[in-house]
Amino acid sequence: MSYSNIPPILIVFYSVHGSTRALAEAIAQGVESIGVEAILRQVPRVSDNIGQHQDSVPETGAPYVTMDDLAHCSGLALGSPTRFGNMAAPMKYFLDQTATQWLNGSLIDKPACVFTSSSSMHGGQEATLLSMQIPLLHHGMVICGLPYSNSALHTTVTGGSPYGVTHVSIDNTQTLSTDELVLARSQGERLATLARKLYKDEGKSQ
Ligand SMILES: Cc1cc2nc3c(=O)[nH]c(=O)nc-3n(C[C@H](O)[C@H](O)[C@H](O)COP(=O)(O)O)c2cc1C
Repeated sequence: MSYSNIPPILIVFYSVHGSTRALAEAIAQGVESIGVEAILRQVPRVSDNIGQHQDSVPETGAPYVTMDDLAHCSGLALGSPTRFGNMAAPMKYFLDQTATQWLNGSLIDKPACVFTSSSSMHGGQEATLLSMQIPLLHHGMVICGLPYSNSALHTTVTGGSPYGVTHVSIDNTQTLSTDELVLARSQGERLATLARKLYKDEGKSQ
């Protein structure tokens, strides 16, 4: 595929059982559906020894995110499993390492969205999404949710919210429902559309 001339959308996630990763992959499909490159990156686990990564290269899956990825993206999607109604510690640990990017303002005016997976329907997905948006607002990012013009938001009996896409992963199923899949792709498409508009507005492309 040939991509448009804006920098890629960065999709950063943490996932142990693969449910959050499934959302990340669907968001990437939505981004690429309009000709914008999506790059998938994961954050490493943190070990019992706080501050120590377990390994430097993932055994499987997407490469670990770098600060360079953050500096050179045109938009960001951030995903974490719900843990006690909040993001998982490895995602928070990653965000806590972005002080330099905050000082440099490297994420200012870039669009961002958040996504999560939980094992129960009312287990804190929206609280997790809102808490993940807070550090992105500190970075000056433009938060992009999902409007109700997405008909799947009206009909879903699984995941999906105006605050961002979600998956209800009962029994750790990684298979997204039809509505979750539609919403995740729509979220990716919206993020990329906004990235294109905001990037163009700065006079950096096209
Ligand atoms: C420490 C811990 C806390 C969790 N807290 C919640 C919770 O508050 N609500 C919920 O519904 N699920 C909770 N879960 C379940 C995960 O959110 C769920 O299994 C999720 O889909 C895992 O995502 P993954 O497949 O990407 O790893 C928790 C899991 C762990 C390990």
